[in-house]
Amino acid sequence: MSVLEKMSSAEAIALENKYGAHNYHPLPVVLSKGDGVYVWDVEGKKYYDFLSAYSAVNQGHCHPKIVGAMMEQAQTLTLTSRAFYNDKLGVYEKYITDFFGFDKVLPMNTGAEAVETALKICRKWAYEKKGIDENEAQIIVCENNFHGRTTTIISFSNDENARKNFGPYTAGFIKIPYDDIEALEKAITSSKNIAGFLVEPIQGEAGVYVPTDGYLTKAKALCEANNVLFIADEVQTGVARTGKLLAVNHENVQPDVLILGKALSGGVYPVSAVLANDDIMNVIKPGQHGSTFGGNPIAAAVAIAALEVVKNENLAENAEVLGELFRSELNKYIADSKICSLVRGKGLLNAIVINDEEESETAWNICMALRDNGLLAKPTHGNIIRFAPPLVMNKEQLLDCVRIITETLKAFEK
Ligand SMILES: Cc1ncc(COP(=O)(O)O)c(C=O)c1O
Repeated sequence: MSVLEKMSSAEAIALENKYGAHNYHPLPVVLSKGDGVYVWDVEGKKYYDFLSAYSAVNQGHCHPKIVGAMMEQAQTLTLTSRAFYNDKLGVYEKYITDFFGFDKVLPMNTGAEAVETALKICRKWAYEKKGIDENEAQIIVCENNFHGRTTTIISFSNDENARKNFGPYTAGFIKIPYDDIEALEKAITSSKNIAGFLVEPIQGEAGVYVPTDGYLTKAKALCEANNVLFIADEVQTGVARTGKLLAVNHENVQPDVLILGKALSGGVYPVSAVLANDDIMNVIKPGQHGSTFGGNPIAAAVAIAALEVVKNENLAENAEVLGELFRSELNKYIADSKICSLVRGKGLLNAIVINDEEESETAWNICMALRDNGLLAKPTHGNIIRFAPPLVMNKEQLLDCVRIITETLKAFEK
């Protein structure tokens, strides 16, 4: 018998429980197939995917153009390392820098790696360009941030579960409240050693917190005035998710350093990137940063195809229109609801807040019921459920999902 022979959900879950580290707490559903906005479990039940692998599958599951690019490249050349040049990387570098309007890109694989890369670039820039004394650079971050799982990144998290017993922590970070321009001004002017401001344009993991209109513009202006790098982590919000190509585009802000991941590959391969102009990126010299897989030919071919799909299929525009529709339909329900108090978000990155204690099981139980009704979503934190379907969804499908969500919520009204 092949080890990959078809198995029941219960068998698959039992295997993961016994042989895998317990670093996740998945909803009990075992998926074996995906196509566009749909996924299927091993028993053949079909669901709407309303998480999109944390916004990695913006282009829909198994997009034929992206999978085709991957297969073609996989049969030709997979990995050279950066010890040699390859014929795909430069083409991709030109494509992505034109696409987002930067001079240069540094290719990595996961989101956390790209965040680490941006932090290293920022520190090096601080010492070599801004003239901060060695080891004195400080980077401002926001409370309730989520930037990944490395030791340095969790050092400036305030999620105790992510942090506790992983110390000693990396120094050099100042934490301020999110969406508080006065706090930023105070921190940025508090010392001559401030090198950068790292921010999510919408806090995704924290529960889809959208900052006040104008916050990003004012933050960028403060950074400019104080010679501090504005570093936008768009790993979750980028690549059309919020109704624009980038969430910072809602305020026409161009970051000094842009971090992308997830949907840069449409979810078929780990591809992340840091983009910046020459005056910043050129601080990195050979041997100072890298990754065996970063910039490999498959990643390059996949990312070009994934970005072409975003452009050719107008995914940002679709996310904008469907996002408005989603929130307005849900607001009609919420007006008379006791169980759901709020829907918020931009484009197709949204969340509802469940009217119960943060520690309650209600949001989880609602997600279980949504699953039974054919729609997959998960709580981000406690009583908040994130809704982020693939951006290739159409209006009819979205309204069908609104129906599933509202009918499910109805069953929880007291
Ligand atoms: C804003 C943000 N940054 C970074 C990351 C980390 O990405 P990865 O899980 O690919 O390391 C995430 C993941 O959810 C994220 O939402």
